[in-house]
Amino acid sequence: MKARGRGAWGPATKLGLPAVFLSCIVFFLAGFFGSMLLSQDISSVRTRPSLLESVDEETGYNPMAHGETGETSVVSIPFQVLSWKPRALLFPKFATVEQCQGIIKMAKSKLSPSTLALRKGETMENTKGIRTSSGTFISASEDKSGILDIIEHKIARVTMIPRSHGEAFNILRYEIGQRYNSHYDAFDPAEYGPQKSQRVASFLLYLSDVKEGGETMFPFENGFMDFNYDYKECIGLKVKPRQGDGLLFYSLFPNGTTDLTSLHGSCPVIEGEKWVATKWIRNQEET
Ligand SMILES: *[C@@H]1O[C@H](CO)[C@@H](O)[C@H](O)[C@H]1NC(C)=O
Repeated sequence: MKARGRGAWGPATKLGLPAVFLSCIVFFLAGFFGSMLLSQDISSVRTRPSLLESVDEETGYNPMAHGETGETSVVSIPFQVLSWKPRALLFPKFATVEQCQGIIKMAKSKLSPSTLALRKGETMENTKGIRTSSGTFISASEDKSGILDIIEHKIARVTMIPRSHGEAFNILRYEIGQRYNSHYDAFDPAEYGPQKSQRVASFLLYLSDVKEGGETMFPFENGFMDFNYDYKECIGLKVKPRQGDGLLFYSLFPNGTTDLTSLHGSCPVIEGEKWVATKWIRNQEET
């Protein structure tokens, strides 16, 4: 027992002094570097209040140094991807109720029947019924209230396509039964003749709720291309108009060719009235 005990404890007592010495060094070093880390932590905690001051109260993000044309704050503009085929995004509550009402008010007295860009062989007479809304064009510079200026600026920011690429706003009213058969916003030169520029994207701002009907439809959403499709038929992805919501969709692929799934139309209004402000965005500046 004793011998075994000595055998077991002997080496430990022999290592005793160096082990104590070694552990002293280890603990000293741990303490030394540990306190250095801690004091660093504390100093970074101390500098934090000055960083906190620049954090945006609303979003909680810390803005970065920006270029001459950049913005000072981080903003949050909610969106929902509605589809990749076509590329379509919804911006809920993009405009306020007051802004929507203001736009309706300025357009109301200027409405006239909406017209179509005509293909070869088409006339006003033989295209009757395709687009039955009334509307008017108002540019942001014409609007003295400044509402269209704010909206146009916001559209440019979410698309990152400069305002100079946008056509004037087309403010439209659809009454009960009024519609827009499915069509493309991009112009095929084979059908419409040579184009100075092409429509890349469309931004629709819904200015009113619609009790029933009046959805923006994308019948070929996700590549369902039925070439027997009747352009009046209200099928596919349907976006219900909600006052203040913005709908953005791209008519062209990044390579500039037309996305055939961007075919869209306005289902007839069944109950209520539909008001919408449309901004067509082109691949060249508007002159
Ligand atoms: C353009 O892009 C689309 C989508 O990515 C693709 O399907 C098409 O083949 C392209 N066309 C040309 C001419 O590059």
